[in-house]
Amino acid sequence: MNRIFSGIQPTGNLHLGNYLGAIRNWVRLQSDYDCIFCMVDMHAITVWQDPKELVSSTREVAAAVLAAGVDPKASIVFVQSQVPGHAQLAWVFNCVARLGWLNRMTQFKDKAGKNRENASVGLFAYPNLMAADILLYKATHVPVGEDQKQHLELSRDIAQKFNNDFGVDLLPIVEPLIFGPATRVMSLRDGTKKMSKSDPSDKSRINMIDDADAIALKIRKAKTDPHLLPETPEGFDGRPEAANLMGIYAALADMAIEDVCARFGGWQFSKFKGELADLAVEKLSLIGTECIRLHNDPGYVDGVLRDGAARASAIAEPILREIYDAVGFLRP
Ligand code: TRP
Repeated sequence: MNRIFSGIQPTGNLHLGNYLGAIRNWVRLQSDYDCIFCMVDMHAITVWQDPKELVSSTREVAAAVLAAGVDPKASIVFVQSQVPGHAQLAWVFNCVARLGWLNRMTQFKDKAGKNRENASVGLFAYPNLMAADILLYKATHVPVGEDQKQHLELSRDIAQKFNNDFGVDLLPIVEPLIFGPATRVMSLRDGTKKMSKSDPSDKSRINMIDDADAIALKIRKAKTDPHLLPETPEGFDGRPEAANLMGIYAALADMAIEDVCARFGGWQFSKFKGELADLAVEKLSLIGTECIRLHNDPGYVDGVLRDGAARASAIAEPILREIYDAVGFLRP
C-alpha cells in the first residue's frame, strides 16, 4: 500500500482553519493509505517556543487529531522528537541539499523577514528536516497545502540528488496529494485576513475546543456586508465575508461552492448564519467535547504517542541504516 506522511506543528490553539486545512484530510486518508502522522515539535522550535507551552501544545494537538477521528490503531500518530531518526537523517540531508536551493525558499524569506541575520539556522534548514520526515519512512505521498508545495519539491530534489550522488535507487520521489480547492478559512471579523491563532480577538476564529454555544455565537457575530448573498461565486468579488462564510459552509457540508451559492443566493446573511451555525455545531461540537475529554486524560494521549513512536521507529531504523550504509557510515 502507498504510504502517507504528514506533519503538523504543535503550536496550540487549533481552529477551524487547521481542522479543514489539514486534520480533516488526515481522517479521510486513513482508509486508503498506510498513514504516519507526526506532531513536528522539532520544526516548531525553529522559532522560539516557551518550553512549558510546547509540551502542552504537543499534547493538545495530538488530542485534537485523535478527537477529529484519526484512529491510532490504523494509523501511526507520534511526536517527531521521540524518534531520533528525524534528526539523524536531517543531518545527512543538510549535506545533500545546496545552499542555493534553500535560498530560494519563499517561506524562509517570509518568516525571517528583514532580520535574516537573526533567524535561526534551523529555520533556514527547516525544509531539510521536512524531507527527512518524509524519506525516513520512504513515504510515497504527502498531503500538502499551497504553502508547503515548494518544500515538497525540495524533498524530491534531495531524494534525486541523494540517489544520484551515491549511485543507489533508495529514496522515493514523493508525490503531493492535493485536496480539492483548498479551503482558506478567513477571520470571522475580517474576511481579508487568514483565521489565526494569534489574532487577539477570540471572536475571529472558531477553536476546535469551542462548545456549541460558542460556535453559534461567533457565527452570529461574524462580520457581514449589507447585501444579499450572491447566487454564483462571481458575486464574491469585493465581498470577502460572504466568500468566507459560504466557503466554510461548503467545506463543512462537503458541497461545491457553486451549489452553496445556488442554494442560499438571495438570502439575508442573518438567515444563512442560522443554517451555518447549525451545520458547524453538528460537525464540530462533538470533536470539541472529545478534545476536552482527552485534555483531561494526558496519560492516555501520552501512551498513544509512545506507542506511535515505537511503531514509527520500527519502520525508520532499517531505512536509516540503509541510508547510512549508502553514505559510508561504519556499522557499529
Ligand atoms: N512544514 C509543515 C507545515 O508547517 C509541517 C511538516 C513538517 C510536514 N514535516 C512534514 C508536512 C512532512 C508534511 C510532511 O505545515
